[in-house]
Amino acid sequence: MSSSDRHSHNPGLWSSQRTYRPFIISSLCVALTLGFTTGAAIIFFRLLDIDLGTAWPTHTQSHGMAQILGWAGLFVMGLGFHIVPRIRNSSIKFPWPQRCVLTFMIVAIISRFLGQTVTSFSINNPLLAVSAISLALGLGIFSLFVGATLLKGRARHRLPELWIAASTGWAIVVAGLDLMIAYRMIDSNSVIVPSAIGKLFIEAALIGFISNFIFGISLQVVPSFLNLPPARLRLNGVSLVCINTGIGIIILTLAKDFSNWWLFAGVVFKTVGFLIYILSLRLYSRKMSPGKYIVNVYRRFEWYLQSAYFWLLIGGMLQVWKLIGDLHSPIGPPTSLGAPTIHVVGLGFITIMIIGMSTRMLPMFEAALLPLHGLLDVILILINLSVASRLIAGIIRFDLAWTVLALSGSFGTLSITLFGLVVWKLLRRSSRQEYIELTRYKVKLKTFE
Ligand code: HEM
Repeated sequence: MSSSDRHSHNPGLWSSQRTYRPFIISSLCVALTLGFTTGAAIIFFRLLDIDLGTAWPTHTQSHGMAQILGWAGLFVMGLGFHIVPRIRNSSIKFPWPQRCVLTFMIVAIISRFLGQTVTSFSINNPLLAVSAISLALGLGIFSLFVGATLLKGRARHRLPELWIAASTGWAIVVAGLDLMIAYRMIDSNSVIVPSAIGKLFIEAALIGFISNFIFGISLQVVPSFLNLPPARLRLNGVSLVCINTGIGIIILTLAKDFSNWWLFAGVVFKTVGFLIYILSLRLYSRKMSPGKYIVNVYRRFEWYLQSAYFWLLIGGMLQVWKLIGDLHSPIGPPTSLGAPTIHVVGLGFITIMIIGMSTRMLPMFEAALLPLHGLLDVILILINLSVASRLIAGIIRFDLAWTVLALSGSFGTLSITLFGLVVWKLLRRSSRQEYIELTRYKVKLKTFE
């Protein structure tokens, strides 16, 4: 038996690894370089009336890819490798799949960014090809191993696993679409992603891959984390069908150039699915009993979750409104500056969920005390302000719209920088030591609403 086989057949060994760590650190590095900071910087260029020409689409598009697959994707994949085997009470092969996925994803994101934005050395086409192939390998290996782990174990399969399976299915679609995007860009010798296929890619990645995964994990842990009444599983199953049918219709419509009515139907399906999901999770219900926690658990955790799901619903409704406007212009939003729908979901739902869930999951995985609770309160306010100002500037026409967008970008970037600081402190040995001290002296459980 090879040494890697011995690893994978010894659950004690793989489970003692913190495989999510390099993913989370890389995710934060991408967010703070190619993601949030680049997004904010290009807005400042516009605010200062500096004409970026084609640098605007190339930078915003590569920023979009870095944010979805780098910031959100790497975080989700890291947690996926850690959580999925535990959901199945099983093991996962370690370490080469995790190392390959991380390497391929980082290569994919960096080479796409450089391939679109560095135009002086005529190396764009090879970089775009490397990016698409690496992404296909990264997403492919991730889906293969997470999918195979979902099939392991004797326990009955449950609904959260179906959400995660849907997420891995969409990850494969994302990889296929990216290969097509690279092919078309190389074929036409262009550094700009064709608009129609770009939209398909964003829908499949943002909602199909990332959001489905978050829905699965939320269903698995949120009711017990928050002491909520049990989730309504049938309703939840209906939301799974609605959301995924909606994504499917949207993608087919955009790919085949069907009428806008089909697109409208897809978006309505998806938004109704969001609403049903929230109702099924009973996220805004009263708790069954006051929670009992060891001291130092972050109390505002549920505010993160509640605001994230609120923004998800707003994002869905905004997309419905926008499409009503496309079908009958007088009713639509007066403007659509800075892709408000994408950001209400990407920043409002996905980013807030990542931060919120981390405050509860990472201390648990690390057996460490979560530091800087006051700072997490500040982040909660800043990130919500960032989404709200993005929404206002995105749908209302007024003179200071670009200034408000720049404010939104600054708040968002600052939030992620501060979150990075929290994670950095949490991953230090001192936080684990503090936890050991706390549990050694058996501090009494505290009760709070
Ligand atoms: C403070 C944070 C952010 C800032 C300042 C920012 C800024 C921008 C800007 C200026 C654009 C161009 C919009 C246009 O074309 O009109 C854009 C596009 C985009 N952003 Fe962001 N963004 C941020 C966060 C995020 C997050 C968290 C995500 C996803 C998780 C995201 C995903 C995207 C996507 C997918 C696009 C569209 C790219 C394309 O057209 O192909 N952004 N962003």
